[in-house]
Amino acid sequence: MNDMLPSNEPAQPGFCRVNTVTRQGAPGGESLLEWLRDELDCLDVRKGCDTGHCGACAVLVDGLPVKSCSVLAQEVGARHVHTLSGLSLLKDPAVVAVLAAVDQRQPFQCGYCVPAFVLAAIALLREAPDPMEADIHAAFAGLLCRCTGYLPIVEMVMLAARSLQDGAPGQGRDGRTI
Ligand code: FES
Ligand code: FES
Repeated sequence: MNDMLPSNEPAQPGFCRVNTVTRQGAPGGESLLEWLRDELDCLDVRKGCDTGHCGACAVLVDGLPVKSCSVLAQEVGARHVHTLSGLSLLKDPAVVAVLAAVDQRQPFQCGYCVPAFVLAAIALLREAPDPMEADIHAAFAGLLCRCTGYLPIVEMVMLAARSLQDGAPGQGRDGRTI
C-alpha cells in the first residue's frame, strides 16, 4: 500500500477522473481522502486513523493502491482515481473474481476494512493472477483489520486467483464451488 502517488504520469493540476466522472478543480490543501468523502460524497472511501497507518482509506490511483489520507487531492493531477464502488462496476476479470470470492468466502466481520483489502487484492491479481501466499501478504502490507486475523482474507484472494486461473470466478479447478 503506497503513501505516494504512482509516478508514471506527470501531475497536471486542474482535472482528474474519479470513477466514471472527470472532475475539475481538485482543491489545494485538502487530502484526497477529505476531497473524496466530504466534497464528492464517496463514502465508500473509509476514514480510519487519518495518519497513514491503517490503510482503511485506500483507493486506486492509476491502478495502484494509495492511502488517500496521505496525499493531497491536487497532487492527483490527471490521474484516474477508483474507489471500490466505481471499480465494482467494471467487468475486468480480477474485479469479477475478487468480488465473487468475497461473496463466497465472506472473509470480513465488521467490514470497515473491506474497500482497502478488496482494492489491494484486485490490484495484486491484475499484476499477478497466480500469486504466492507471500505476494498476498506483501500486497496487504500497511493494511489493518481489527477483526479477522487476516487468514480468511488471504484465503479469499487465493480463491479468487484459482478462479482466475480456471476462468470461472468462484469455482475451484475441479469445478466445485469453493
Ligand atoms: S485513514 Fe488513511 S491510513 Fe488510516
Ligand atoms: S473486518 Fe473489521 S476491521 Fe476488518
